[in-house]
Amino acid sequence: MGEVDQAFIQAAQHRPKLDTIEIEGIPLIDLSLSDKLLVSEIGNACKNWGFFQVINHGVPLELFTKINIAAKTFFDRPIEEKTKVKRDEVNSTGYHESEHTKNVRDWKEVFDFVLKDPSFLPASHEPEDKELKTLRNRWPENPPEFREVCQEYAREAEKLCYKLLELIALSLGLPSNRFHGYFDDHTALMRLNHYPPCPCPELALGVGRHKDAGALTIVAQDDVGGLQVKRKSDGVWVPVKPTPNALVINVGDTIQVWSNEAYESVEHRVVVNSERERFSFPVFFFPSHYVMVKPLEELVNEQNPAKYKEYNFGKFFAARTRGDYKKLEVENIQIRDFKII
Ligand code: OGA
Ligand code: NI
Repeated sequence: MGEVDQAFIQAAQHRPKLDTIEIEGIPLIDLSLSDKLLVSEIGNACKNWGFFQVINHGVPLELFTKINIAAKTFFDRPIEEKTKVKRDEVNSTGYHESEHTKNVRDWKEVFDFVLKDPSFLPASHEPEDKELKTLRNRWPENPPEFREVCQEYAREAEKLCYKLLELIALSLGLPSNRFHGYFDDHTALMRLNHYPPCPCPELALGVGRHKDAGALTIVAQDDVGGLQVKRKSDGVWVPVKPTPNALVINVGDTIQVWSNEAYESVEHRVVVNSERERFSFPVFFFPSHYVMVKPLEELVNEQNPAKYKEYNFGKFFAARTRGDYKKLEVENIQIRDFKII
């Protein structure tokens, strides 16, 4: 224990209980059902949980195996090789081993790439600074098939993102393509997460508690488990049980605002363990940087007035990710900072 850097240690109230029992709860939805049934199941899952799992989602299952192998092979390479494709504050694609969530270091290493190469984001979080930065992917030499496997998986996940957005729009009583225009120059990011075994899983977290900033997130996880969701009804941390061939979906902050809180972005975290390494592969579906996010006009009226001020997605994201590299003295920006009522 004496070996573990203080930067990883969670404050007492945020440390995980490691004896959590498996509770059924998070809905499992079969995407091969009729759209009519799906719309209602997805609407309920978004309202009650903010999280659900899907099967028969159309992502070819052999890609799960391929991406697991590619990720393991990459993360097993020597650190000198991984840092050749290191992320930095200007270009946040590539390898990174010291991410912070809410100013505590996460017990993980990651590899990030954008689905659209290049992608554009504001260069800084300062409102007056109009400069954009260009994100271009950095690919490692090993394993040789890494790039192709990542891109193949990402193409399939992107299709699923659009399908889910359509179902979510329908479930809110909107036309199915209502959200599409916000993603013309989307800034979606895929991340390969590696959580090594941790000598003090009762003190550290793989990812500290957080909400995802985008519209939705699709996560493929292996069979180790560790992802936990804060149940809306009572605040209990509920494990998301690894389910063969399923993908985990969660609603992010952007949908919380568009839906005027009909659907909330729910807090989640990743618990680590002392025995098995874990891999997970989120795709964060972020809108174009210039999108102004606000409650949709169709969903607000006198009885249900807008609960959020409008904000620029890119600036919000730039402010939110400022703490990724180091401990900041200030708390990260959150959508509650735009709350009107
Ligand atoms: C994240 C996240 C979950 C997981 O990276 O934002 O919540 O299971 N990951 O790794
Ligand atoms: Ni997350």
